[in-house]
Amino acid sequence: MSYPYQIKSLDQYKQVYQNSIENPDQFWASIANHFRWKKKWDKVLNWNFKKPEVQWFQGAKLNITENALDRHLQYNGHRPAIIWEPNDPDDHHRIITYKDLHFKVCQFAHVLKNNGVKKGDRVVIYMGMVPELAIAVLACARIGAVHSVIFGGFSAQSIADRLQDAQAAFIITCDGAFRGNKDIPLKSVIDDAVVQCSFVKRIIVLTRTRTPVSMIKGRDIWWEDEIKKVETMGNPDFPAEEMDAEDPLFILYTSGSTGKPKGVVHSSAGYMVYTTYSFVNVFQYEQEDIFFCTADVGWITGHSYIVYGPLCAGATTLMFEGVPTYPDAGRFWAIVDKFKVNTLYTAPTAIRSLMSFGLGPIHGHDLSSLKVLGSVGEPINEEAWHWYDEHIGKGKCPIVDTWWQTETGGIMISNMAGITPSMPAHATLPLPGIQPTLVDENGKEIEGNSVSGNLCIKFPWPSIIRTTYGDHERCRTNYFATYENQYFTGDGALRDEHGNYRITGRVDDVLNVSGHRIGTAEVENAINMHAGVVESAVVGYPHDIKGQGIYAFVIDNNLHGDENLTRQDILITVSRIIGAIAKPDKIQFVSGLPKTRSGKIMRRILRKIAEGELTNLGDTSTLLDPSVVEEIIKGRV
Ligand code: WT7
Repeated sequence: MSYPYQIKSLDQYKQVYQNSIENPDQFWASIANHFRWKKKWDKVLNWNFKKPEVQWFQGAKLNITENALDRHLQYNGHRPAIIWEPNDPDDHHRIITYKDLHFKVCQFAHVLKNNGVKKGDRVVIYMGMVPELAIAVLACARIGAVHSVIFGGFSAQSIADRLQDAQAAFIITCDGAFRGNKDIPLKSVIDDAVVQCSFVKRIIVLTRTRTPVSMIKGRDIWWEDEIKKVETMGNPDFPAEEMDAEDPLFILYTSGSTGKPKGVVHSSAGYMVYTTYSFVNVFQYEQEDIFFCTADVGWITGHSYIVYGPLCAGATTLMFEGVPTYPDAGRFWAIVDKFKVNTLYTAPTAIRSLMSFGLGPIHGHDLSSLKVLGSVGEPINEEAWHWYDEHIGKGKCPIVDTWWQTETGGIMISNMAGITPSMPAHATLPLPGIQPTLVDENGKEIEGNSVSGNLCIKFPWPSIIRTTYGDHERCRTNYFATYENQYFTGDGALRDEHGNYRITGRVDDVLNVSGHRIGTAEVENAINMHAGVVESAVVGYPHDIKGQGIYAFVIDNNLHGDENLTRQDILITVSRIIGAIAKPDKIQFVSGLPKTRSGKIMRRILRKIAEGELTNLGDTSTLLDPSVVEEIIKGRV
């Protein structure tokens, strides 16, 4: 069975798209009508990109968890909501029905309430990929608390920064997390983080790895003990808090071109409508399909397409605790076979990494259940696209190349599986309601086809970023001030003769390393914190598996006299300040950096050197000391 708002043909897409642009209010209202509201809206859309201010479904009251859970109980309560596959293939998997999930979310909402969590409070969640992570997220939403999930790869310092920015008094974590053959001591990282955060009142710890942990009296409590207390209460139902359409649902921190990560804020109603709508249409989800998104809930992809989108659609979402190469590079294919997965949604970096193991790991796994494949996080190169198509989809599964961002909340530009045409390395067409534009450096919109420019969106969609937490001005300057009346994505794109978009990558100082977003300024700040470093400049360079690698040019003070040791020290420093995901792949020690007379580092030149493009460095005549360029070229690593 399909959904009332599911688009079923190319002609229908064209009609729906046209209508969504001409009558946006009517269009989105007709979709929103299929959700459960405590009270419907007074006005569909109110917007002003100058401020910026965007309100969707103004005046409506709802709770997203009633749409993700309660709404499915009557007819589909017995259906699997979450299938969970553990890190170790020999351990038991878990199947959690909608009825079970509703029960567990209500139970944990009681736990939160018993511990003083109230509507509007910020709750930081730092857990591995266990079902309780989804339960914690939904319980926050149930009670109206604002969750902020932090990916398990971030360091104590990064967590402390986020705790402070969000002023979060509550943390939910695990003793540890299993990831491949690693055991990550999550609670111990949290302990280091909260040393700087005396405002943290409660830390709820779920048992997963049985790693020894220090539990501080009066502050730290066990998830399991708290659940036991709730169990004696009898009926665990937890009435969903009535939320305003525009009440914040969550904060998710992401990197930008400045040093400090920003807290992207999404609101309740618009996010719900858009993630569900895009989930159903892009993947052409049919009831009873098994949907497997391999992202981590610590990133937006996991929020929108492991938790909220699928659950609001009453789908079965598969959550995997481990990594694609453990115990071997056939793990994804083993999971597809084991659960007869219908849709696989993963990242180009994972595809490229699995490609490098050859076809061996695929053999012996039946992939015939697959109907749709998806890609997200970075431009997918043609080679990876064809491998995915041929060896995983066996030439019969449409591949959706989904372009979107943490700030957009949901998929913006993508083909719809089997409905609109797919094209290798092209995200193709905008979803209904999405109005992309290309603009030149002067902010002039570039009309027509077969053109390229900076990618903007000129009209709001329901899951657009509302603010950056605690600093609305930053939201304005980052996204709405570069080009008048446009949301600026930070990406460049081409539009071909048929209007298909091809995303070419970031045009700002943001790197995309294995689908993770990392700001060069952030990495530079971390490197510069090392006592032996005088100054540094970080740029990206093409990397076969990661998409982009991190190349750091560093001026050191030669205190050790041992470059290798300093290199190791810098790597450890970056791991401590940001997390292992931001460690530079290459570090080159230099005696100077190419700067203009006004002292600005000319990254354009460093980027070319890092890319190995040495013949055409462009104009170097404005450099303070052109000779440093020669030296840097000679010392390339
Ligand atoms: C940036 C957003 C969207 C969830 C995962 C990343 C790049 C994302 C694609 C794609 C080309 C893509 C863009 C974008 N990107 N998807 N299909 N084709 N580029 O979320 O961390 O917010 O990063 O990822 O550069 O701006 P994110």
